[in-house]
Amino acid sequence: MLKCGIIGYRGMVGQVLLSRMSAENDFSHFHTTFFGEGEKDQKAPSINGPHENEVKSAFDFDTLCSQDILICLKGGEYSKEVYPKLLNDGYQGIWIDASSAFRMDEDAVIILDPINSSNIKKALNNGIKKFCGGNCTVSLLLLALQGLIDIDEIEWVNSMSYQAASGAGAEGINGLINETKDLLEKCNISDKALENEHHIRDKMLMQEELTFNAPLAFSLIPYIDEPFVSGSTKEEWKAGSESARILNERAFPIDGLCVRVPSLRAHAQALLIKTKSKLGAEQVEELLRKGNEWVQVIPNAPEESRSFLTPVAVSGRLNINIGRIKNINHDPHLITAFTVGDQLIWGAAEPLRRMLNITRKFLS
Ligand code: HSE
Repeated sequence: MLKCGIIGYRGMVGQVLLSRMSAENDFSHFHTTFFGEGEKDQKAPSINGPHENEVKSAFDFDTLCSQDILICLKGGEYSKEVYPKLLNDGYQGIWIDASSAFRMDEDAVIILDPINSSNIKKALNNGIKKFCGGNCTVSLLLLALQGLIDIDEIEWVNSMSYQAASGAGAEGINGLINETKDLLEKCNISDKALENEHHIRDKMLMQEELTFNAPLAFSLIPYIDEPFVSGSTKEEWKAGSESARILNERAFPIDGLCVRVPSLRAHAQALLIKTKSKLGAEQVEELLRKGNEWVQVIPNAPEESRSFLTPVAVSGRLNINIGRIKNINHDPHLITAFTVGDQLIWGAAEPLRRMLNITRKFLS
């Protein structure tokens, strides 16, 4: 039986991964070891499959080296420090990394099955051992557009994101909840709308030590991550650079702006798509529907858009919804769309879980 180590399973992506692996009965195929902070006698999470009862230290190099597959959810700094040391110690197994640490490395592959499953299999056959989950908005975007990507219909895409607080981790969710609670508690809410707005605005501007370094509750922040190149943030740069590595010869330019909004979970993106052919909105809907089993095309109608194109409609779910598909009047090659998907599932845990199973089949 293959040995699988899961490093840093206690964070949000780790919890979502464990829950998806349990739902799909993945643990029955592996002997699993959990690696964590290494507190003495820490018990492993209860899973449905053979496993070590005690959590090992994430710096227990002997036990790490004895695994066939390691999934690392501990963050880029840990990966950069530990993976080279493991290789030095003779680690021969597959490394599946949730962080951005190695995404641009020549000897690494960004994984997004089913979008680049053939590349993943080719890489395994060629002896590649370093695999990385992609950025959440990039993965969600490509999955939503798979129907157009598969027939090489896209000239370029502009994506304006609406990213949930949980994109910044558990701290992001709790920070937003506490900020909202704090503002409401400090203001005497009455039925006078403008007075309420004044009170809340005053308090918003007086807040200190904010999780996102700016008010997010009742607001938004049009800047995610650090400045990078040509006026883009690092998050925005990832759209073009990571998608190019995932799609290879099928790649097309992707650019846009990333915005943090006060939703709790699931990232949304407003898209402007330039197609190679002149396609009507109905044709585009039909093509997108064929993309993969998780894409749900939502009719461009008020009730359906309000019910199914919101973060809350897809949070905790596998489906990636796309709607508001319409032609742009002044250019027959331009189409708009709005897509929303759970960034903790398809933007993080699910590609890792699918890679684990591809690897299992490859090694068995
Ligand atoms: N960087 C993303 C965000 C998290 O800040 O929303 C998922 O990669």
